Amino acid sequence: LTVGIIGAAFSGGQPRGGVEQGPARLVEHGLIDQIKSLGWNVDFDEKFPTYENLKPEAEEDRVHGILKNVAHVAHVTKSVAESVEKVVKSGALALTLGGDHSLAMGTVGGSARVHKNVGVIWVDAHADINTPLTTDTGNLHGCPVSFLMGLKGTENIRGFEWLPPCLPKNRIVYIGLRDVDAPEKRILKENNIKAFSMHDVDKHGIGTIVQKAIDYLGADSPIHLSFDVDALDPTVAPATGTPVRGGLTFREGHYICEALFETGNLVAVDIMEVNPLLGEQTYVMQTLQIGCSLARAAMGETLL
Ligand code: ARG
Ligand code: MN
Ligand code: MN
Ligand code: MN
Repeated sequence: LTVGIIGAAFSGGQPRGGVEQGPARLVEHGLIDQIKSLGWNVDFDEKFPTYENLKPEAEEDRVHGILKNVAHVAHVTKSVAESVEKVVKSGALALTLGGDHSLAMGTVGGSARVHKNVGVIWVDAHADINTPLTTDTGNLHGCPVSFLMGLKGTENIRGFEWLPPCLPKNRIVYIGLRDVDAPEKRILKENNIKAFSMHDVDKHGIGTIVQKAIDYLGADSPIHLSFDVDALDPTVAPATGTPVRGGLTFREGHYICEALFETGNLVAVDIMEVNPLLGEQTYVMQTLQIGCSLARAAMGETLL
């Protein structure tokens, strides 16, 4: 078993500094050795690109209506897609450490190039399916899913020519939603997109929900897990940019990762939105620790 780790030091999809330090801090916390001790061969370039330095050419490129940092996000996600594609093509698991969740345009974009039928399990408090026409913040970390699907308003955004629609509306399942903007609710409904909110988790239990998600995508489907740590309750993972109370417990979050590993079909995992500059040191350590243990759970760590 080989894992290719992509350290995506990037924060341009949202306004809060620090999330670009997520990958380095997770590695410093011992993630690489932890994964090795689970029996994996680890392919990791310590000198991963710090994407903050890859500034776009011209200022006007960066503005598209309300959208912020368009050229920068487009440039970085294109490069991440190439990295993820290469790893997945080689048959290894692609583990991307964020960075903000706009990076998922690159990670899912990359795995979808290799597996046309990839099924995405998107674990998040948010749906991240705003379009350039519906976003009220202009932050691209709230928009990656609409770009992957090619929803109305995402066509002809300069810089994103590299990303054709690659995610059919029935190839994603959400788990953990609880802060969905009004236009996003409409998009989910109109397109019949499969979504399990925290209400559904409360009602059915996490075991049932994960099984429903796997069944929906199909037992043989390659799976891409995109895990935004703000899916977890802020008491569990506090160091993140857009915390929302009422989230997944420690065990619920880990259960999702464990159960998806057990399918044997995981091709890519994203651990996103760990921001080590938010909050007191103990909260930051707690969040880094959970970023590492979620990754390990998705890579076969068991309790017994
Ligand atoms: N819905 C809000 C927005 O579009 C928040 C998105 C938060 N996304 C995230 N990846 N944490 O700006
Ligand atoms: Mn989120
Ligand atoms: Mn909002
Ligand atoms: Mn997200």
